[in-house]
Amino acid sequence: MTVTPDIPVIAIDGPSGSGKGTIARRVALALGWHLLDSGALYRLVALAAGRKGIAFDDEKSLALLAASLNVRFGSDQDGNEQIWLDDEDVTAAIRTEDAGIGASAVAGLQAVRDGLLGRQREFRQEPGLVADGRDMGTQVFTDAALKVFLTATPEERAKRRYKQLKGKGIDVSLPALSRDIEDRDRRDSERSVAPLRPAEDARILDSSSKSIEAVTQTVLDWASEL
Ligand code: DC
Repeated sequence: MTVTPDIPVIAIDGPSGSGKGTIARRVALALGWHLLDSGALYRLVALAAGRKGIAFDDEKSLALLAASLNVRFGSDQDGNEQIWLDDEDVTAAIRTEDAGIGASAVAGLQAVRDGLLGRQREFRQEPGLVADGRDMGTQVFTDAALKVFLTATPEERAKRRYKQLKGKGIDVSLPALSRDIEDRDRRDSERSVAPLRPAEDARILDSSSKSIEAVTQTVLDWASEL
């Protein structure tokens, strides 16, 4: 596997619900580049830990687990993301609220972040990589050719999450979702380890009142200036 700093990276960071997953996927597709969904790795560590009975504060065991995860990323015939852990399809299992809460807990441990660092950098393959997360521009790919910090107001992010869950037939309350989002933002940006913040050289993009197409196009326009 070749890992070389000459291969361009577009880093897309931001809080949950800012739309970075969708935008990163569309930008990668438009450019024909690889995609790294780094949040999925933290979710996988949490899921695997739960299954092995490893506590979310057992930093040493979690770090070993993070470094040794047997993961495969792929897509089905419709191009939808598919993720396997030890040959089990865990695509849906890692998207649950529980996996998200677990991911947030393990993501606060430096040893876990260190354990996932090399694995994330291995995604840097020809012809380029679009990397989506919280610290792509500040820690993992500090030399990224383009760093985007995607934001949206907490109200807008709660509304998007509400629609998404309703669409799946899950009954939720909008005020409760808003509180969850604000709590998660606070935890992610106030933690001592790799807190969520824009890189100094990041371009800030507020997606609140913009369509997915418009946001994708802005990132592609910036990419074409490289
Ligand atoms: O983007 P997501 O919801 O799948 O991320 C799940 C959790 O993982 C979230 O609480 C933040 C954390 N995370 C992180 O700390 N660093 C990343 N690069 C990606 C995600």
